[in-house]
Amino acid sequence: MHQDHLLSATQLSREDIETILDRAAAIETNLDGWEAQYSGMVLGLCFFEPSTRTRMSFDAAMKRLGGRTIDMGSVDNSSISKGETLADTVRVIAGYADVIVLRHPSEGAAKLAAEFVDVPIINAGDGAGQHPTQTLLDLYTMRENGGLDETTIGIAGDLKYGRTVHSLAAALTNFDVRQHFISPESLQLPRNIRYDLHESGAEVREHTDIKPVLPELDILYVTRIQRERFPDENEYQRVAGQYRVDTDVLSHADDNLTVMHPLPRVDEIAPEVDDTEHAAYFEQAHNGVPVRMALLDALIQGAK
Ligand code: NCD
Repeated sequence: MHQDHLLSATQLSREDIETILDRAAAIETNLDGWEAQYSGMVLGLCFFEPSTRTRMSFDAAMKRLGGRTIDMGSVDNSSISKGETLADTVRVIAGYADVIVLRHPSEGAAKLAAEFVDVPIINAGDGAGQHPTQTLLDLYTMRENGGLDETTIGIAGDLKYGRTVHSLAAALTNFDVRQHFISPESLQLPRNIRYDLHESGAEVREHTDIKPVLPELDILYVTRIQRERFPDENEYQRVAGQYRVDTDVLSHADDNLTVMHPLPRVDEIAPEVDDTEHAAYFEQAHNGVPVRMALLDALIQGAK
């Protein structure tokens, strides 16, 4: 990659993506074989919002590369609770770490942080904005399950607040992928994202119902309604539980349909789906380690 930071999936060209995914595939063939790579390197984990997969897979990835990690811990236990600004926090942590992974509830937080430090910043989610490393592991999972080109994907759920959707939709414009967006009307794609997709020439359709479009799909990417981003709880209650993918719904799908989800799920995929051939979401989460190892490798090499 030519950039110092990974802030948005819109930065990634097809070539960038393929380079990282190829490297991840090579790493995955021997996950235990990379510990001599980056001894002495330190990754700073700064999560201002809850995280299980992203935080732990970055932690695992750095350690599997032979590096170490330092973790800011919860916001309550850090000086942010004393009123410290994001700029000051990252400036200090940049003195302790060679790369910083940042998750923050405000859109644009990673971009702002990048202006204050000279170590690479990786955006691990900025509010309803972007989540580009999730996208890389999503693309890796798609590639492993049928390929990226000549594919039809349905992206369902919270398209308004879902940052994984915003990043994935942008990255998919590098490939020959038809994108169907399925959501309640109130949770449709933000206007700027829809505009960018049209500008890029992507083939995009919007729907409010899953069933009619399901038979056409190779991939169904389900997302959680982002309850924490709703200004009004009543609004959340109006849309909660509207989509639930279960074996009955999947009986309308192609036998080869792959069901993905960035996780965590609430009730949008029934547990009975886990045991079907369709379910790829746990494999998807596990792909976070080799993909983040490949990304760290690219950023550290680039920063040298
Ligand atoms: C996602 C996120 O944080 O945006 N989680 C993740 O990183 N896998 C999805 C979500 O929280 O719904």
